[in-house]
Amino acid sequence: MQTNFRGRDFIGDLDFSKEEVETVLDVAWDLKRKRALNESHALLRDKTLAMLFFFTSTRTRGSFEAGMAQLGGHAAFIDSETTQISHGDTAKEIGEILGRYYDGLAIRQCDWQFGNKYENEVARASRAPVLNMQCDVYHPFQCLADIMTVIEKKGRDLRKKKVVVSWAYAASYSKPISVPQSLILQMTRFGCDVVLAHPPEFVLAHPPEFKLMPEIMDMARENAKKYKVGFEVTDNMDEAFKDAAVVYPKSWGPLLTTTGKEDGKALIDKYKSWITDERRMKLTKDDSIYMHCLPADRGLEVTDGVIDGPHSVVYDEAENRLHAQKAVMALTMS
Ligand code: CP
Repeated sequence: MQTNFRGRDFIGDLDFSKEEVETVLDVAWDLKRKRALNESHALLRDKTLAMLFFFTSTRTRGSFEAGMAQLGGHAAFIDSETTQISHGDTAKEIGEILGRYYDGLAIRQCDWQFGNKYENEVARASRAPVLNMQCDVYHPFQCLADIMTVIEKKGRDLRKKKVVVSWAYAASYSKPISVPQSLILQMTRFGCDVVLAHPPEFVLAHPPEFKLMPEIMDMARENAKKYKVGFEVTDNMDEAFKDAAVVYPKSWGPLLTTTGKEDGKALIDKYKSWITDERRMKLTKDDSIYMHCLPADRGLEVTDGVIDGPHSVVYDEAENRLHAQKAVMALTMS
């Protein structure tokens, strides 16, 4: 068990070592048990958290806000558009000033090639810890909830369990690549064999389209080597699903290829067959679980039958956001 968390930022998944993540999970389960028993756990009485959002949110906002209240503190929701950021407040000023008012700064800034840099710049200036509610590179709290859910459903020994992180079709917008990136970084530290699936076919002349960031791929490969697990990449969704214990198919934009809305949509529209349906779920193990961070494009990313069906654990997964975040807040802000 690790105990040295106080005052630390959590921006990238690997900011906490594997042992530290295990401690976070232990604390999360303890807080989950306390909430189920209605036992008081006011570990952050009189503490305050600023939640600075540059993007919309359902789960992240709700779970951080409820979590702070359950810990005896207060969370302030700050929509960036209602601040003076557009009139000149810099990242350094936000860190310096909000870091003096609040005991923690949680930020969601997903702008491609900007969000992560922004959060780190705020963190350098802030005396309070900075917690990443999602940036362009990572979604670390989602991934803590995900690993917590996988362990609850599949047990602590994940050796030889095939976990599939797959691209999926969606029509709503070019979604960030932070969730699959966090997943391949964290899951490769927890014993499972990770398979990453995305189009297009791997021919040399092909553009990268839905590839993840090369430096993230390198870190995932290093993890896989260190923890002696599998880490494979495929362009075949059916192959990936075969005998999987966990499938996590979600859409992301072709951000390494284009940031143009129209170009991105044209690339995404080439792969409408990448849907998680009942036929594909039949390729997985009988007791496999279907995961999604939500929101999902129903009927495009996944059928209603799958997301509402017996394999789906999406609501337990969403609930675990609350417990995992409370654990990190209690450890870093107390
Ligand atoms: N999964 C997730 O981060 O959900 P929100 O975008 O609703 O916060």
